[in-house]
Amino acid sequence: MGLATGTSPIGTYNQLISWYKKGDLDFSKVRAINLDEYKGLTRDNSQSYFSYMYHRFYKHINIDFNSMFIPYGTAKNDEEECVRYDRTIETLGGVDLQLLGLGHNGHIGFNEPGQIYEIGTHCVKLSDTTIKANARLFKDEQEVPKYAYTVGMKTIMQAKKVVCIVSGEDKAYIVKEAFYGLVTPRVPASILQLHNDLVLIGDEAALSQIPVNNLCAFS
Ligand code: GLP
Repeated sequence: MGLATGTSPIGTYNQLISWYKKGDLDFSKVRAINLDEYKGLTRDNSQSYFSYMYHRFYKHINIDFNSMFIPYGTAKNDEEECVRYDRTIETLGGVDLQLLGLGHNGHIGFNEPGQIYEIGTHCVKLSDTTIKANARLFKDEQEVPKYAYTVGMKTIMQAKKVVCIVSGEDKAYIVKEAFYGLVTPRVPASILQLHNDLVLIGDEAALSQIPVNNLCAFS
């Protein structure tokens, strides 16, 4: 499984935990590859994505701790860490099911808007929009790391299935741009239009700018 952080997948993790506790799911053979990590944060920093995944998901299920992978935020050498992470993903055979959220500027993982799509895992300078959006989870904006490691588009696009979860009116514009606009690295998630097994799940507010005919409602 390819897993994401942010507020969007929290409900999904809670649901998976509750199915696990009921005895309906077994994670003992699951291998989990996370999309990204802030550069500079140790794994035990409460703001690290490692902490997020551990506290919100992994500690509640029976996943083998040797089977969960997240880039090391405190890696000494960016390039080596990125190559190492890509090799790990390759050794695992890639991602079967990729869970994604969507940044306000259209980023997926931490693939920020730019001139090109980055293929492999890379160290990225976070955009001002991302720093501002993620500041709500820190004491103040100054505390948000300026760089992060993220898997590239290859890992995401080669996933057999992609499930993207969006919620809230503040995502409505970017959801329309990403899934009904031009495919361009300026809106990184737009590349998902080319994926052959993508499911977009959203609440009414986030999907409010999508033509009704294209929606399928669940109650
Ligand atoms: C962060 C993460 C992304 C996530 C995005 C949206 O920047 N790196 O993986 O999709 O936030 O987060 P939220 O779901 O909280 O809006």
